Amino acid sequence: MLNIAIDGPAGAGKSTVAKAVAKDLGLIYLDTGAMYRATAYYTLQQGIDVCDEEAVKKMLDGMSMNIIYEDGAQQIYVNGLNTTPYLREHYMSKAASDISALPPVRYKMVDLQREFAKTHDVVLDGRDIGTFVLPDANCKFFMTATPEERATRRYKELVEKGQSVDYDTLLKDIMQRDYNDSHREVAPLKQAEDAEYLDTTNMSIEDVVAHIKEVVHIKTKPQHTATASSEVKVGDKRAAKMKKYYKEQKSFAFYRFLSVILRPIQAILWPIKVVNKQNALDVEGNAIYTCNHYSKVDSFIPCFKLFKREAHILAKYELFKVPIAGWFLHKMGAIPVRRGEADIDAVKAVLKVLKDGKKLLIFPEGTRNKLGTQDMAELKTGTARFAIRTKSPIVPMLYYSAPKLFRRNWLYIGEPFTLEQFYGARTPEQMHEATEVLRQKMDETRRLCNEYVHGLKNKWKKGVK
Ligand code: DC
Repeated sequence: MLNIAIDGPAGAGKSTVAKAVAKDLGLIYLDTGAMYRATAYYTLQQGIDVCDEEAVKKMLDGMSMNIIYEDGAQQIYVNGLNTTPYLREHYMSKAASDISALPPVRYKMVDLQREFAKTHDVVLDGRDIGTFVLPDANCKFFMTATPEERATRRYKELVEKGQSVDYDTLLKDIMQRDYNDSHREVAPLKQAEDAEYLDTTNMSIEDVVAHIKEVVHIKTKPQHTATASSEVKVGDKRAAKMKKYYKEQKSFAFYRFLSVILRPIQAILWPIKVVNKQNALDVEGNAIYTCNHYSKVDSFIPCFKLFKREAHILAKYELFKVPIAGWFLHKMGAIPVRRGEADIDAVKAVLKVLKDGKKLLIFPEGTRNKLGTQDMAELKTGTARFAIRTKSPIVPMLYYSAPKLFRRNWLYIGEPFTLEQFYGARTPEQMHEATEVLRQKMDETRRLCNEYVHGLKNKWKKGVK
């Protein structure tokens, strides 16, 4: 039997993705959360408190649950009553989370789920499928997104259904449920070691589905994915195309050639002094250089000024299609990234670059500062994630102000540091904490940069007097 496990916290998009994957691959979808919801609903109908373990345990002895599919949609009957229409009410989420912490409930549900998986090719979504229910599942995924993103998704979903909800209450509920689900004694919400981590905060549903199908395609025998072969082929083609754009450079002779030609031109057009250059040069092997981002040129200035051999930058996927720009980026060893989604190919390319001991220049804000101010926007968690996954040191850098033609400017290089205290971390909360550390380092670099430049300017003023 083919079993695909998709675990993750509430609101990460698991059920939408699992349903689509199941449909495309001709598998059955089992919503295990609905089983806990149905148990909670029935318990409340019986006038029993969902936290009263003894009473619930007694009730379970006389409770039968049947899962059937009507027009392809899962229906859960409890003692002959179809509970399905009542399970998505908002108050049921908390009741299901509470009752799911009771060991007798879990054991009963887990038995039913294992039995189901033994007899069906199935995509299951839940909290403990990969870790506890089916540790030998063929493919495992751990889908998540920031609590804010998940609350926003839930908010939109409920508003679309015409329910009136308060965003802050939803966010609080989601965080409370995350806590409950990951702190219960039996089979808490946790990523299985062999599960693939998918942060869907900036990812479209279509991309997550396409990615999961590709992984299933690779990991399983062809007969299981026969119905999906056309879509998988499209994904394969796209992946092949992407690989063509990001070509590993065996020799960086061309980069060096460009560097010799362009460096003096750059020095005239953008007279930028690098302060503490040694901080950047001292780092051996893989490293991530983080910088504030104002304009297109500010990726190339540090590349030519700091990296003799090669440095990789992330560039918008669309730019690679522009004839000269695409060729140039390609020659620079740039990595194409599709913005607004978690581009798996880009992530893989970045991880490869770093694991190969190379340098990556990244703008942790994820976008340009169009106002040209000194303030940095909120940092995305991607940089910390890469640094942790590849154990890369981070070199914080800051432009004093937005690079402008013929205007004197400074690129200040801070002290390199590592996120060593987070190595092995995987949860979104830990990624946010690590990003906060990066933020503090960038703020500190800003303070030092301003101190340096203002000191210099004062000296000049005094000199003039
Ligand atoms: O996915 P959901 O929101 O419908 O799940 C409702 C609750 O059920 C959730 O808060 C935790 C619990 N649950 C679980 O403990 N194990 C599962 N495999 C699925 C859900």
